[in-house]
Amino acid sequence: MVAPFEIRPFNEVLGAEVVGFDMRVPLADAEFDQISKAFDRHSVLVFRDQQQLDPASHIAFSRRFGPLEIHVQKKFLLAGHPELLIVSNEFRDGEPIGLVDAGKYWHSDLSYKPEPSMGSLLHSRTLPAEGGDTLFATQHAAYDALPAAMQARLGPLTAEHSYLARNAAQRAKSTLRPDLTEAEKQTVLPTVHPVIRVHPGTGRKALFVSEGFTTHIVELPEDESRDLLAEIHAHQTQDRFIYRHHWVDGDLVMWDNRAVMHLATGCPPDMARTLYRTTIRGPVPVGPAP
Ligand code: SIN
Repeated sequence: MVAPFEIRPFNEVLGAEVVGFDMRVPLADAEFDQISKAFDRHSVLVFRDQQQLDPASHIAFSRRFGPLEIHVQKKFLLAGHPELLIVSNEFRDGEPIGLVDAGKYWHSDLSYKPEPSMGSLLHSRTLPAEGGDTLFATQHAAYDALPAAMQARLGPLTAEHSYLARNAAQRAKSTLRPDLTEAEKQTVLPTVHPVIRVHPGTGRKALFVSEGFTTHIVELPEDESRDLLAEIHAHQTQDRFIYRHHWVDGDLVMWDNRAVMHLATGCPPDMARTLYRTTIRGPVPVGPAP
């Protein structure tokens, strides 16, 4: 059966838009297959015109790709739908309704978990008239562009990822970010992953360290680790690897955390911006064969 929607690749380093698609309608297996293949291939899919999408349908569509995570910041989960994290700069009765500073640093979602997220789906609810773009950097192209000697150096290395370190850094900048309870902290203990991971769908290699969550490279002394991470970070966030998403009313953006990092650029604080995010659990990252 030919799907009634169209997938149009962007004229960019990554990404495609999906038009004529209604996420409220359950997906046939052939359509799911088509979307999955496009997801592996383009790393970012922009589903247009999802203005009518309700939380239950957002969750049901996301669940086709795997089990959903419940974010550790419990205060910002949508009432009745804990699979949805609210990303927002809006306030009600003086309290933030969502995570205000979500993603204001380069990262791959939940890379601090033993099974990091394979993909996230962010649905626009209220958009600012100015700013609020999200940047996506392809870590496949970033890996491919490394000199062979650097690829060989990074191949056997592993790195620690820590939510607790990031949360502490964000809390030092803003009183709006809650601390975690001791029990919550136990669910996000630091974890170690390969610096290079192999994408299970395509076999392509990607850099898998980020400014946001990577604390250090396990096999190196502290100063060497810091210098190498700084060098990788400068490389992996070059303009040539980036697609800038300017949000349009109704957009739902689905990205592949195994292939891209992303960054929220922010918007003027007096302009409301609210989005809902589901996060799909992924596999344990696998490094390149020795
Ligand atoms: C996120 O990191 O999930 C938030 C991205 C955004 O608000 O643009």
